[in-house]
Amino acid sequence: MAVETPLKGNIGDSIKRKEDDRFIRGRGNYLDDIVLPGMLHMAIHRSPFAHARIKSIKTDAAQAVPGVVAVVTGSLLAQHKLAWMPTLSGDTQAVLATDKVRFQGQEVACVIAIDPYVARDAASLIEVDYDVLPAVVTPQKALQPDAPLIRDEKEGQTSNHIYHWEAGDKAKTDEAFAKADRVVKLDTFYPRCHPSPLETCGIVADVNSATGHATLYMTSQAPHAHRTLFAIVAGLPEQNIRIISPDIGGGFGNKVPIYPGYVVATAASLLIGKPVKWVEDRSENLISTGFARDFHMSGEMALRNDGRMLGLRVKLLSDNGAFYADAQPTKFRAGLFHIVTGSYDLPAAHVEADGAYTNKAPGGVAYRCSFRVTEASYLIERLVESAALEMKMDPADIRLKNFIQPEQFPYVSATGFEYDSGNYPKAMQLALDKLGYQELRKEQAEKRKKGELMGIGVASFTEVVGAGPGKHYDIAGLRMFDSAELRVHPTGKAILKLGVKSQGQGHETTFAQIVTEELGIPAADVEVQEGDTDNTPYGLGTYASRSTPVGGAATAMVSRKLRDKAKKIAAHLLEASEADIEFDHGKFFVRGSPSKSKTIQDVAFAAYTNLPDGLEAGLEGVTYYDPPNMTFPFGTYLVVVDIDRGTGEVKVRRMVAVDDCGVRINPMVVEGQIHGGLTEGFGIAFMELITFDEEGNCLGSNFTDYLLPTSWETPKFEMGETVTPSPHHPIGAKGVGESATVGSPAAFVNAVIDAVGHLGIKNIDMPLTSDKIWTALKEAGAAE
Ligand code: CDP
Repeated sequence: MAVETPLKGNIGDSIKRKEDDRFIRGRGNYLDDIVLPGMLHMAIHRSPFAHARIKSIKTDAAQAVPGVVAVVTGSLLAQHKLAWMPTLSGDTQAVLATDKVRFQGQEVACVIAIDPYVARDAASLIEVDYDVLPAVVTPQKALQPDAPLIRDEKEGQTSNHIYHWEAGDKAKTDEAFAKADRVVKLDTFYPRCHPSPLETCGIVADVNSATGHATLYMTSQAPHAHRTLFAIVAGLPEQNIRIISPDIGGGFGNKVPIYPGYVVATAASLLIGKPVKWVEDRSENLISTGFARDFHMSGEMALRNDGRMLGLRVKLLSDNGAFYADAQPTKFRAGLFHIVTGSYDLPAAHVEADGAYTNKAPGGVAYRCSFRVTEASYLIERLVESAALEMKMDPADIRLKNFIQPEQFPYVSATGFEYDSGNYPKAMQLALDKLGYQELRKEQAEKRKKGELMGIGVASFTEVVGAGPGKHYDIAGLRMFDSAELRVHPTGKAILKLGVKSQGQGHETTFAQIVTEELGIPAADVEVQEGDTDNTPYGLGTYASRSTPVGGAATAMVSRKLRDKAKKIAAHLLEASEADIEFDHGKFFVRGSPSKSKTIQDVAFAAYTNLPDGLEAGLEGVTYYDPPNMTFPFGTYLVVVDIDRGTGEVKVRRMVAVDDCGVRINPMVVEGQIHGGLTEGFGIAFMELITFDEEGNCLGSNFTDYLLPTSWETPKFEMGETVTPSPHHPIGAKGVGESATVGSPAAFVNAVIDAVGHLGIKNIDMPLTSDKIWTALKEAGAAE
């Protein structure tokens, strides 16, 4: 009988996640688990109106509640120059409103009390006298000349327009359109939705007035960057600020911005001299923290009659809410939306983007995608579907005809990205074979004859993840590199400290596996630490799938640094020349005599006990890695749906997802990431929506109105993979965490349109609820 070798945790091993031991036993340490002696609690009084001038704020009744320690208003903060703060996009945002409120749920005043219930009760007693102003809830209305001015406090701001940004070549694109046989158009809207992590945002601020040290426990996806921004905004010396981001129950971009609650709790702790905890509730999270999407997009594609794509023209209008607080690199006003040419060899493209202020919450975040890539991918994949429909071409064929071919990589896109590697036809072919595409097309034709509605949706996405390089990508000026520090102890056990910060992605396991691969130390012997700014090297954090491309690369590089030193020690132990030492899976041996060897553990011990003359003791190092380029994971998703003509109900019969994220460190973790992303894509396509009425009231402020998919609704996913390593990444890995959310909404929507397109229904905007589909069928005279 064959004996199974236990998995050591090399790259490619699906070892179980180390961190799950504590999570499934309820022994995680989340923000709300943190209790400090003498800790006070904060609650926020928020605006009921979307747009109103503040005439007065009365706090006496709140102050008088037993147990209330302080009430903080904007005017108090203004005395400390803290009433406004900078946003990640270089705008300003009110910490507590002083002049006007600009969205429903905006922070107006805070109560600090001995317990959270007293704080909340007292917050409800704050009386604000408002002069209600007309609310602006769409960017189109915001840009009309007579629209009320939302940011009237900003010098020189005379309209609600925020930015204009372009990418690509306009003249070349116009030429391509002039030569085209036909132009296909699509106007579509990617609605506002919310990352809604299981754990909401919060802070425990502990400012010690005696030492001046501030320890801030924060739900932060980017603790180092947050520390620097805190130092700059609050004027605190950076060495006195320690941010500890404990276990995080999901981030998805929601925990990248700095929220007013963090700032007020810190200021309150400083002024009162006691720790202050603030944890928002679900509705506060949904109405006031970093939303996602809200892009109105208009695409035009120029084509030849044989289906060859010639050019792409896109106009984009983003709804940024009341403060431009998108979390994205400075140079890119609409994020990386210009990846909109997708997987296609498009000779010319031009993108024009404009943004507008509205009376809605700020914070367009990279919700499980690199900055605004989901919107771009949705537009191109919907547009290709429209082209296939109009030209009566098979949706898979038109894609195969236009894909960038494997030999064209590295490929420079018409909007300026250099794609590192890819094999799009291979991924698509695998997906088609797994699904049995041709058979299903025959079945669809038979069903159509009987009047039944069945659709097959295709989406072939290209994601761009892993920012930097630092010279092009930054957050609030901080260059986007990342770091890894590795210490190997005398007994051969190691600690790896990272600048990135897991929110559930399994870093404690997968990053240990990179060390295993590079140094041969079993993953179980590598402790991974993240999130404490005093104890980890500087990094830009985890969002936009950058951990593996940047932090993973730093881990491989620092391991290699240590391996080089270990070789010198091994040569000394083996009494051989360093040039003759070879390394394989944790063993150093003399070339040609593999039996004469020392293990990494032997070498680690010698690093502290038996060194060659002149070599520094210890086995540790740090690497700051600035990637030469982003990585470009990709895939093809196929969805089969059946639609009930009587109710408009969609049943997702099958979903095949083929992903390529280069070398997979832990295939099981990767599959889990993709499952999560596909579920989110499904939710956005069919259920999730934050909308507002004419007065700016948020209509998606709780989980009975904002619908998240559960395992009950979510379809079964059939997965496949291809492996096209990234040539510039030290272990050939591309990021994966976000791709599935990027690729899947278009596949689901395309499946519905594929089912009803022949009835003249070319587009239905997400979420595709039964009533919307039934109404579209009715208008087409096809509802039962
Ligand atoms: O930045 P974030 O952690 O969200 O995303 P990521 O870099 O795409 O990684 C998500 C998880 O998948 C991490 O635990 C990675 O180490 C793992 N992963 C992997 O095992 N192999 C890859 N090629 C990419 C990611």
